[in-house]
Amino acid sequence: MVNPRSKSRDSRQTIEGGLFDHPKYYDVVFGTTSNAEFKFLLGCVERHNGRAVRRVFEPACGSGRLLVKFAERGYEVRGCDLNSRAVDYCNARLRRKGLAASVVVSDIEHFRLPVPADAAFNLISSFQHLLTESSAERHLRSMEASLASGGIYVVGVQLIPSRGARTQMERWSGRRGQLFVASRMWTKRILARRREEVCGLTSDVITPRVRAQIREELTLRTYTARQMDALLRRVPGFECVATYDFTYDLKSPIVVGSDTQDVVYVLRKI
Ligand SMILES: C[S@@+](CC[C@H](N)C(=O)[O-])C[C@H]1O[C@@H](n2cnc3c(N)ncnc32)[C@H](O)[C@@H]1O
Repeated sequence: MVNPRSKSRDSRQTIEGGLFDHPKYYDVVFGTTSNAEFKFLLGCVERHNGRAVRRVFEPACGSGRLLVKFAERGYEVRGCDLNSRAVDYCNARLRRKGLAASVVVSDIEHFRLPVPADAAFNLISSFQHLLTESSAERHLRSMEASLASGGIYVVGVQLIPSRGARTQMERWSGRRGQLFVASRMWTKRILARRREEVCGLTSDVITPRVRAQIREELTLRTYTARQMDALLRRVPGFECVATYDFTYDLKSPIVVGSDTQDVVYVLRKI
């Protein structure tokens, strides 16, 4: 994992691969907000789902930090992710808790659940890894086919505001035992015509014995509020029943406007 021959100028070792290839580190960084997100998702299901919820699906589930919480509560969970290391990590975690290893390697564009789920979610902009409009539309159609009528799909998106300031740098950090991981993600450039945002992402991994860094570049598809609306209109099998922001406060739904950046869309299958 750590390549001892690869040293950066500041003497930190370089860890090969990206953060998603190291689900344990990913989980430490993003695990710090999981309880708030889980509580929000439970509230969304209670408030907005048009049917009783037993089966829950997370496309691009990564380490499974949220999916495992649903499984522990007795929900039947399914997940998929393109990254086999994340899938193995998530399944091992489910197995350790005596639960079924129900996550598979698959892209979120063509995936179909054999039995439709009652609710689904995909937070922290994972959907924006799909770089073309047709991929994004296929994903929404795949989600429509993977949900029973009345089921909700809770999807987090970071919009490009057409008015006001935009956050261009984000930091997260977390600790688990003696392992500390801190990540920083920033906009390197926006390719406006291609609708792509190229982001730098560095993650410092620190233990009493190791000081190392993961460095990578991620490309995400950009959306303005209007472009997101246009995409949703092309998939009429979903209606948008509520919008929130990344504070995950059910008491504070938002109205998406030209200055909105972080949105959680609650889509319900008609
Ligand atoms: C930011 S992580 C989010 C993981 C998880 N949803 C969470 O909330 O922690 C993004 C995940 O999307 C996955 N991913 C990216 N593109 C994908 C695709 N086309 N199909 C499936 N998974 C994909 C990555 O492997 C990564 O695990």
